[in-house]
Amino acid sequence: MKTLVIANWKMNPQTLAEAKTLFDSIRKGIKNTCPELSRRVEVVICPPFIYLSELKTTDSKLKLGGQDCFWEDKGAFTGEISTKQLKNSGCNFVIIGHSEREKYFSETDEVANKKIKSAIKSKIRPIFCIGDTLEDRKRGNVQQTLTCQIKKGLRGVRQSEVKNLILAYEPVWAIGTGKPCSANEVQKINLCLRKILTKFYSVKISQNMLILYGGSVNSKNARAYITEAGMQGLLIGGASLNAKEFIKIIKEVAGS
Ligand code: PGA
Repeated sequence: MKTLVIANWKMNPQTLAEAKTLFDSIRKGIKNTCPELSRRVEVVICPPFIYLSELKTTDSKLKLGGQDCFWEDKGAFTGEISTKQLKNSGCNFVIIGHSEREKYFSETDEVANKKIKSAIKSKIRPIFCIGDTLEDRKRGNVQQTLTCQIKKGLRGVRQSEVKNLILAYEPVWAIGTGKPCSANEVQKINLCLRKILTKFYSVKISQNMLILYGGSVNSKNARAYITEAGMQGLLIGGASLNAKEFIKIIKEVAGS
């Protein structure tokens, strides 16, 4: 099974020219430094929507993903982008429920649920983000919070559909803070998430689910999340905007 390395560029960079340069540097960097890579790692770039069609290349090994989506297929929804539009712009993945969506746009797990269903319908793999806050940690509520997010986010998502979903564990306190969650702790969370998935679905679904870690990942800590914590991939924000650092991360992961 390939390890997934997903770049979340967020609202960066500022121009199409910069986006193309970054994309090309990553593409060339992979080609030149990790020729074995495509057998071991799947790299997905999630740029701002407006760059998607421009970055869509047929020869590139890099896959594309959206950073968000809307749940309706079409119609009067000013400012929104449907999963069908994402698919037609070359996306095979879409990030859903990122904590920044909750923080700045008050998105709930119920909203994430609708988006997940829409992505599945459009044959795009949803990357469903879940994670605890510092407050959850202080109160000893981590497991409860994660259970609740999965329960609400995946309500009505059938066994046959959930196979296409990817879960991303992103503790809110680790995102963009330079304070990553330790591999040891992520390993514990991994077990906890598998238990929750077994309860809601089955042992098989739980074992086969791809679970990623995200939150202050860099080239120094990346490998441990795969080898020690048993994650199937990484979701990377800040470090994905620096081509050299991002390629280093990919190399680390490919070697593990
Ligand atoms: P970060 O962001 O790598 O900058 O912490 C991760 C994310 O928000 O997905």
